Amino acid sequence: MKYLVTGGAGYVGSVVAQHLLEAGHEVTVLDNLTTGFREGVPAGAAFVEGDIRDAAKWLDSSYDGVLHFAASSQVGESVVKPEKYWDNNVAGSMALLGAMREAGVRKLVFSSTAATYGEPERVPIVESAPTKPTNPYGATKLAVDHMITSEANARGLAAVSLRYFNVAGAYGAYGERHDPESHLIPLVLQVAQGRRDAISVFGDDYATPDGTCIRDYIHVADLAEAHLLALTAAQPGEHLICNLGNGSGFSVREVIETVRTVTGHPIPEVVAPRRGGDPAVLVASADTAREKLGWNPSRADLAGIVADAWEFARHISTAREQ
Ligand SMILES: NC(=O)c1ccc[n+]([C@@H]2O[C@H](COP(=O)([O-])OP(=O)(O)OC[C@H]3O[C@@H](n4cnc5c(N)ncnc54)[C@H](O)[C@@H]3O)[C@@H](O)[C@H]2O)c1
Repeated sequence: MKYLVTGGAGYVGSVVAQHLLEAGHEVTVLDNLTTGFREGVPAGAAFVEGDIRDAAKWLDSSYDGVLHFAASSQVGESVVKPEKYWDNNVAGSMALLGAMREAGVRKLVFSSTAATYGEPERVPIVESAPTKPTNPYGATKLAVDHMITSEANARGLAAVSLRYFNVAGAYGAYGERHDPESHLIPLVLQVAQGRRDAISVFGDDYATPDGTCIRDYIHVADLAEAHLLALTAAQPGEHLICNLGNGSGFSVREVIETVRTVTGHPIPEVVAPRRGGDPAVLVASADTAREKLGWNPSRADLAGIVADAWEFARHISTAREQ
């Protein structure tokens, strides 16, 4: 099959593109390189440097589907520059859906997020939970989910939205390198590499066993497998929404301790005030993904996730020095 991967020069998109190639598919990556890297595009994929808003220039009926990762995804930035998020995430996705309609490409897998739910009333979070995003990033992703539902209803699009919880780890040469980085594991690894003096722990007085926030970390390779399953499961006229997580969480302190063990570095930590809008516990119920996609994540071990991310971080540092 032939797939267009938007955002395939970024973290998750590059890992999924590599998995598609390994499964024997033909892949074109469309990316404007705003936060992605040309070397992130897997060898074997065709590359178009361009914007999803212009997707109509490249999309044609030879494609069997689109996997849509391209987005702006910094929560903090979305609060101060919401217009960037409505434009890139919502207007961009609308242009992409229009291009797909024009070209007759009728299958879509979309990167949605746990941020669509906001503060959960109950954990683990199920897909029928209320969606009350607490920041513009989550609101724009939820708006795209609604857009996709109406496209499926009106035009028979076969669509799956995958709501990722905390994506982590790496897959060989493909891993996480956001700038600025906001995700915990790569930030703690920056301390281990001497690129940062200490890690900030935002609040240690939450109602959790060690007082720090608990999050659901999912290995990016497990996540990639769900995308391939979603392409098979997608049905015309249906928009399936699935959470992707492990269903169990780790606290900030457990993550830091695991990085100490994996890297052998002491990792100094500094307790800072809580950040607004940070729920104590965010953990997914992934029962829908297991049932509807046949998804069976196998890399839930935190030490393994951190070890893969650590290997990638060292690989990138070596590449930077050369
Ligand atoms: N990383 C996570 O933990 C996480 C969690 C939940 C959801 N997501 C979602 O997954 C997707 C991928 O996230 P990521 O962490 O890989 O981000 P990333 O920033 O590494 O990748 C996004 C890619 O999209 C490209 N891009 C952005 N706007 C574009 C546009 N208008 N046209 C073409 N290309 C464009 C960027 O250059 C980049 O390569 C995003 O949609 C994000 O919202 C990520």
